[in-house]
Amino acid sequence: MDGSRSRPLGGQTQRFLREFLIRPATVGAIAPSSRGLARRMVEGLSLEQATAVVEYGPGTGAFTEEVLRRLAPGARFFAIERSPDMARDLRRRFPYLKLYEESAADVERLCLAEGIHPGEVDCVISGLPFAAFPTQLQEAIITATLRVLKPGGRFVTFAYYVAHLKKAGREFRRLLERSFDRVELSRGVMFNMPPAFVYRCRKSDAARG
Ligand SMILES: C[S@@+](CC[C@H](N)C(=O)[O-])C[C@H]1O[C@@H](n2cnc3c(N)ncnc32)[C@H](O)[C@@H]1O
Repeated sequence: MDGSRSRPLGGQTQRFLREFLIRPATVGAIAPSSRGLARRMVEGLSLEQATAVVEYGPGTGAFTEEVLRRLAPGARFFAIERSPDMARDLRRRFPYLKLYEESAADVERLCLAEGIHPGEVDCVISGLPFAAFPTQLQEAIITATLRVLKPGGRFVTFAYYVAHLKKAGREFRRLLERSFDRVELSRGVMFNMPPAFVYRCRKSDAARG
């Protein structure tokens, strides 16, 4: 069970809630992801062997912590967080994290700035609230993600069961199924608030842009 549920509202949770109230469509959640969800996100990714990894929308850093714990020394890793407030807190929590205050849609340009060329990224880990995004933004981010991923590279992103049933959630699933060679749904994480699951997507082995 996820012990964090019984804690009183911590500073991170309060900040998260405040961000949600200011920008609901950008944050897309009322509470930070649980440790259970963070572990489910990185399960099976073999991050220990990865050489280039990118995280989208780290928020309070729940997934970042699990990624950093697994990466080998020398692996290249950076995160893209659009909210300046979230970015400031992340810099406090992870002083050595390479963090861009930009949009995930610009991942290709940011990879190049890091010396990572299209087709070189092993895994993209996303905390973005895709079901709250307009179709155009969903498509822009997924297209850019396919460009940076290596053949056979992985993209993981979570979804809340409640949002997944709505139109934008269903459209996002269809977009994933059109874009990736394989799309799997993880077991649910019921002690997350709200309950969630992970989409595990694999880019085709045939190299394409
Ligand atoms: C659901 S929250 C993050 C959840 C995270 N796992 C946590 O526990 O804190 C989504 C995050 O994505 C960020 N975000 C939204 N749109 C973005 C975009 N286009 N590019 C990068 N980050 C974005 C938001 O600012 C927010 O911090």
